[in-house]
Amino acid sequence: MKRKVVSVLVCAAMVATMAVGCGSSSSTDTSSDAAATTEEDTAAADDAAATDDAAATDDAAADGDVITIGFAQVGHESDWRTASTQSCQDVFSAENGYDLQFVDCDNDSAVQLEAVRGFIEQQVDYIIIDPIVSTGWDTVLTECEDAGIPVIVIDRTIDDSDKYVSWVGSEFKTEGLAAGEWLKAYAEAKGISELNILVIEGSTGASATIGRTEGFNEIAEREGWNIIDSQTGDFTQEGGQTVMESYCKSYEGQFNVVICQNDNEAFGAMDAMTAAGVSYGVDGDVILVSFDGCRTALDYCLAGDINAVFECNPMAAPMVEEVIQALAAGETPEAEIFVEESCFASEDNVPTIEVNGETKEMTVVTQELIDARPF
Ligand code: AHR
Repeated sequence: MKRKVVSVLVCAAMVATMAVGCGSSSSTDTSSDAAATTEEDTAAADDAAATDDAAATDDAAADGDVITIGFAQVGHESDWRTASTQSCQDVFSAENGYDLQFVDCDNDSAVQLEAVRGFIEQQVDYIIIDPIVSTGWDTVLTECEDAGIPVIVIDRTIDDSDKYVSWVGSEFKTEGLAAGEWLKAYAEAKGISELNILVIEGSTGASATIGRTEGFNEIAEREGWNIIDSQTGDFTQEGGQTVMESYCKSYEGQFNVVICQNDNEAFGAMDAMTAAGVSYGVDGDVILVSFDGCRTALDYCLAGDINAVFECNPMAAPMVEEVIQALAAGETPEAEIFVEESCFASEDNVPTIEVNGETKEMTVVTQELIDARPF
């Protein structure tokens, strides 16, 4: 069974739960010193939070109903990821009766498999996995099954095993198709007849990368667009900047579209294009597109620096909690739960697009919309 949940556009109630989210990385210093400081701060904050959580969990444990959850998170590569982590930590808090064992796998698949095995050893009640890559899962999921621990997959998909209870996430191919359909309509509205495109992909092997690439390429092939190059920026600002620096050197004057498969890559690409003297956005020579729709990206969209943003919704945790509650009640949860995605633009020249036979609205970004955004 398949279910859609409401868009984050109308999830204003979630705002209150979001202490931390997207929003700072366009100005984030990606140097190792800055990263080290952030990690120390995070570790200190985590220690303090762990002490509070432990106290609250002890109270709940006294009632005998604490639910232990292991969450093997991809890493901390993007603003989107920060929002996803925060969403889980807010929902699966000690105050809400959970003991959340969180592992940041730092984009390392081996670490992620070990994290899951660690959760099995700890005999947690449920395991949540956001799979870094979509394959290589069947053995460890069989181990979870043998241990009697239900697994819930979020965000990215697992494509080589069905040994999990439910998946909650985004339609990545649809996001890619939407970007392509918008680009076609936008180019027509602007009278641009030739599209020479550079793509900065997400992490290799991630279903988010695979789906967005598949969807966008389908439209590109149909329309006969020229995709000059497509390289991974690993879903990071630094990766986006590095790839774009090299694109600016190799393809100087040859491109008029840059598709970044997440917001942070777009921030890096903007820095690289600015440094190379390439103009982008509504008044520029290059049409810039990104995916995710975190607040900072929408700030840039409002300012006209990013032309369009295709949303990926990181607020899966409340839906995961529903799955866990269903399991705890002895019910069978839905196998697939899709979060709804919106599409955002700087200008109002493309009101709607047709994707998979459905009409999707292009929402023109406003300050009000950004202020109400939970991430
Ligand atoms: O899997 C979701 C993708 O991973 C998001 O687009 C990206 O920002 C994140 O790192």
